[in-house]
Amino acid sequence: MPISLRTQVGIVGAGPAGLVLSHLLHLQGIDSVVVENRSRQYVEERVRAGVLEQGTVDLLVEMGVGERMKREGLIHYGVELRFHGHSHRIDFKDLTGGKGITIYSQHEVVKDLTDARIAAGGQVLFEVEGVSVHDFEGAKPKIRYRKDGQAYELTCDFIGGCDGFHGVCRPSVPEGVLTEYERVYPFGWLGILAEAPPSSEELIYTYHDRGFALLSMRTEQISRLYLQCKPDEEVSLWPDEKIWQELHTRLAAEGWELTEGPILQKGVTRMSSFVAEPMQHGRLFLAGDSAHIVPPTGAKGLNLAVADSRILARALADFYATGRHDLLDGYSQTCLRRVWNVQRFSWLLHRFPDENPFDRRRQLAELDYVTSSRAASQSLAENYVGLAMEW
Ligand code: FAD
Ligand code: DHB
Repeated sequence: MPISLRTQVGIVGAGPAGLVLSHLLHLQGIDSVVVENRSRQYVEERVRAGVLEQGTVDLLVEMGVGERMKREGLIHYGVELRFHGHSHRIDFKDLTGGKGITIYSQHEVVKDLTDARIAAGGQVLFEVEGVSVHDFEGAKPKIRYRKDGQAYELTCDFIGGCDGFHGVCRPSVPEGVLTEYERVYPFGWLGILAEAPPSSEELIYTYHDRGFALLSMRTEQISRLYLQCKPDEEVSLWPDEKIWQELHTRLAAEGWELTEGPILQKGVTRMSSFVAEPMQHGRLFLAGDSAHIVPPTGAKGLNLAVADSRILARALADFYATGRHDLLDGYSQTCLRRVWNVQRFSWLLHRFPDENPFDRRRQLAELDYVTSSRAASQSLAENYVGLAMEW
């Protein structure tokens, strides 16, 4: 027999979406339990995103989990776009009235949030197995799972489906309810972490005949670099020397040197865009990657997950305080406006395998425009630092 447990909001997944939701609810006096199928160590070491929008940074600080980020994060007020071997800086500070981005790894955000949840007596259960969600079309949804061989049934008022793209929550919604929009791109990103001081203070996005490349960083000692590659690229075919050689070629600019160092980690990420609508059904609410994914170019996945959780936490807090459910009813619509804007902001810099010389000329003209027109630069900057939209 399963052991019966009860909470107000049951949350599946201890990624950024689940942890932000749980902590925001706690700050409003609302009880939650987070169930996560991986170990704490695995989740805290998973290398993923690294760019935090201004709004994400402000929220983490407001939530009381921003201390280490403020100490260790790198604040940037611009990015470089590089094409034809020339660099063009987009000055966020000037173009957005003082906003910027912070470079701070997603797994560090996850560590800070997990520490905060546990310090506050929050329940984050790692290494649970066989998670399933039930009865969310009624008033008493349930999450079933096993931990250490024991079965549990957690009854809640609401379920937060924060279990990422491959989770169980979205597929549990009855067929015919969700409409799924998808685009799979014919390329991937080969990403490396290298023990090398970043060769630039700010991120460099490069458009090159051989494909896109990106220079980013994690700290003042660690660089993060990406190369556009085939979607099914075999990492083993990319020895370290070949990676550095390709990065040198694609990132080359006059008077600029790429610093090399030992490669600590490498991997290939496939690229796709996906949106499920609506992001809710009954008392199950999807947040973050479980509802949508964006190609990494705009550095938005983590920021979107945080935005969803903020909107959901506010709607739940309003429900518990007043009994009203209009914010809950409007959850999906509120989130999707930002989601589709971010999908739109998928970038100009990749080379598509089937593009012809006309496409290439047009793409370069677009880059020329975005780096020479103040209006176009401003549009890019306001999207990059994060749209000021209801959340
Ligand atoms: P996740 O972080 O995926 O968290 C979901 C959690 O649910 C995970 O901890 C998972 O273990 C858990 N889970 C899954 N299934 C179950 C289950 N059945 N039961 C219990 N728990 C479950 N974004 C950027 O902005 N820039 C980047 O450079 C970037 N790089 C990325 C690289 C990779 C390899 C990947 C996969 C994503 C990257 N992203 C990037 C996207 C960004 O990391 C995600 O958008 C972000 O993690 C979304 O947070 P989330 O909490 O919604 O989902
Ligand atoms: C990083 C990833 C991105 O997708 C991006 O656009 C910028 C930076 C990063 O991992 O640092």
